Amino acid sequence: MCKINVAIDGPAGAGKSTIARRVSKELGYIYVDTGALYRTVGVSALRKKVDMESDEAIASVLPETEVEMKFVDGEQKMYLNGEDVSVEIRLPEASMAASRVSAVPAVRDFLFDLQRDLARKNNCIMDGRDIGTVVLPDAQVKIFLTASPECRADRRYKELTEKGVEVNYDDVLSDIIKRDYNDSHRAVAPLKPAEDSVILDTSGFELEQSVKAIKDIIKEKIG
Ligand code: DC
Repeated sequence: MCKINVAIDGPAGAGKSTIARRVSKELGYIYVDTGALYRTVGVSALRKKVDMESDEAIASVLPETEVEMKFVDGEQKMYLNGEDVSVEIRLPEASMAASRVSAVPAVRDFLFDLQRDLARKNNCIMDGRDIGTVVLPDAQVKIFLTASPECRADRRYKELTEKGVEVNYDDVLSDIIKRDYNDSHRAVAPLKPAEDSVILDTSGFELEQSVKAIKDIIKEKIG
């Protein structure tokens, strides 16, 4: 049976995961956060202390990197070689490592089938950078979610401090700007809206407004 796939792409901190998690719960779909996959590979590369400047060195960790995604009470958990790394992948250094490893074609190939399989078997909302353009070009709904860098840094700062992670606002903002640049200028699967996506700018939106806007788009597309 054909599954319903909703692709949500957009820059770091646009609120994709918070909104997608909420909407998927309401619709009874699974929520797949594909950034967590790249973060897990990033942590693997950091742990192996490979030269992060070298694509070959990053690719060399893949044969010893087993990435698993499990859903525990509807929450996505990430495992690296059997170890739960769901908290570690959220640390700022894992964010930068994820952005770096995600520019390596071998890493993108490595994670491609896992993402496609999940979407083939489940009604899902999948978020990332290239879901509407590369991973699920036939998704019934494609949304490009964005917001100003300052607004996204505010949200990310709040999210991290609420989790007890100590961060400095200026560092969060400069990380976001740096990652935007990396993610949209890389040669392979750069961040950009799919031609048939709906672009939603949530600057200044409260969470509820964003959730409603996304639900309205989905309703309009699939009834
Ligand atoms: O969404 P996030 O911040 O957790 O993503 C971490 C990094 O992974 C981000 O800098 C870009 C990369 N990424 C990607 O290249 N493609 C995806 N589908 C998801 C994330």
